[in-house]
Amino acid sequence: MLGDFTYCNPTKLYFGEKALDNLEPELRKYGNNVAFVYGGGSIKKSGLYDQVMTILNKTGKKVAEISGVMANPTIDKLREGIEIARANNVDFILAVGGGSVLDYAKALAVSIHEEEDPWDKYFDRFEEPTCPIVPIGTILTMAGTGSEMNAGSVITNPEKKLKVGHVFASEEVMPRFSIMNPRLTMSLPTYQMVAGIYDIFNHICEQYFSGNDDCPSDDIAEGLMRNLIRASYKAVKNPKDYEARSNIMWDATWALNTLIAKGKTEDWMVHMLGQSLGALTNATHGMTLAAMSIPYYHFIMMDGLPKFVRFAENVWGVDPKGKNDIEIASLGLAKMEGWMKDIGLVTSIRELGADKSMLDDLVNGVSILNGGYRVLTKDEVRVLFMEAFKR
Ligand code: NZQ
Ligand code: ZN
Repeated sequence: MLGDFTYCNPTKLYFGEKALDNLEPELRKYGNNVAFVYGGGSIKKSGLYDQVMTILNKTGKKVAEISGVMANPTIDKLREGIEIARANNVDFILAVGGGSVLDYAKALAVSIHEEEDPWDKYFDRFEEPTCPIVPIGTILTMAGTGSEMNAGSVITNPEKKLKVGHVFASEEVMPRFSIMNPRLTMSLPTYQMVAGIYDIFNHICEQYFSGNDDCPSDDIAEGLMRNLIRASYKAVKNPKDYEARSNIMWDATWALNTLIAKGKTEDWMVHMLGQSLGALTNATHGMTLAAMSIPYYHFIMMDGLPKFVRFAENVWGVDPKGKNDIEIASLGLAKMEGWMKDIGLVTSIRELGADKSMLDDLVNGVSILNGGYRVLTKDEVRVLFMEAFKR
């Protein structure tokens, strides 16, 4: 490993069927005015809302509800939550839901005491918070984003046709604790479950496909990918398979709590392509990544050939005997695509709501990053979207 780094992850995790027992003692450590943030109603259906409310009441908290946080949360919804939080002197945020709710809570945490508009400061200029940050705790109901143990927050601005992620440098943005009971994820529709699985897989790819040195992060990444592939088949076959759901949830956390990026540069171009697609179509995050991955990885394969060969052999079990590197690498990508089809991912951007009239906006919405094997030009980004339209 050749890179230098600092690593600190202060989030305390409570994992397993009894994880919710830890909410009460955790809540007692924090302020009395709690913003209870949740999504469109899945937690009411599952009964989790009532369980959480009971615990909040037991600890004597004054609760302000911020509900209806949508998938791919918008800046307007954030502005609305900031008003509610200020009116209630919120000093702790409890986020209960998937990545969208958790990301929203982080954006809220850095905005309650900030006078400037959060879009300009955090999602346009990418500044760090200069105001006090309200602490947050989470109860995760969907495995995918890793938001439970990272400092990322992705917010959509429909007016500007942009979906932007900010990974805050401040450790204070990270959840103080996250409660993770795999059983809570079992009520997810299959579409969301497999989208989450691909999100996890692609987070690993974004950190794996870079660098050529011998780095332990890449070995950890391969183990996570193998486990995720195994668990995904089991979970698709039987969504109530606790072991599979538990593995997927834990894989998700380690896929994006920044550990496997240590000592390396990172790619993240599939996410840049997917986010642009998501900004224009509001499609499910993991599906946008699935649709852009195949064109992208074929496009950059020759730039990072040794890693694609390693990927084929170590993740997909491709037997190298009698094959040249290009054949091995191509077979690895073919196996990846086969798995994507097997678990039911959407790989057509048309199916996600895109049409060719969006092409200019799709290209404009992509930020070009330089940590992977190839620095794309905007013309190449256009080629990739054109390629995606053919599928
Ligand atoms: O709103 P509710 O009713 O809760 O329904 C949600 C939502 O419709 C539903 N859901 C969640 N848990 C459920 C459930 N339905 C039944 N049972 C449950 N247990 O699932 C739908 C999708 O939820 P969402 O939170 O949007 O999904 P996900 O966890 O994939 O989060 C996606 C967001 O996270 C961002 C994405 O861009 C997107 O905005 N990301 C955040 C990252 C980070 N913080 O590091 C990195 C990722 O790459 C990603 O960009
Ligand atoms: Zn993602």
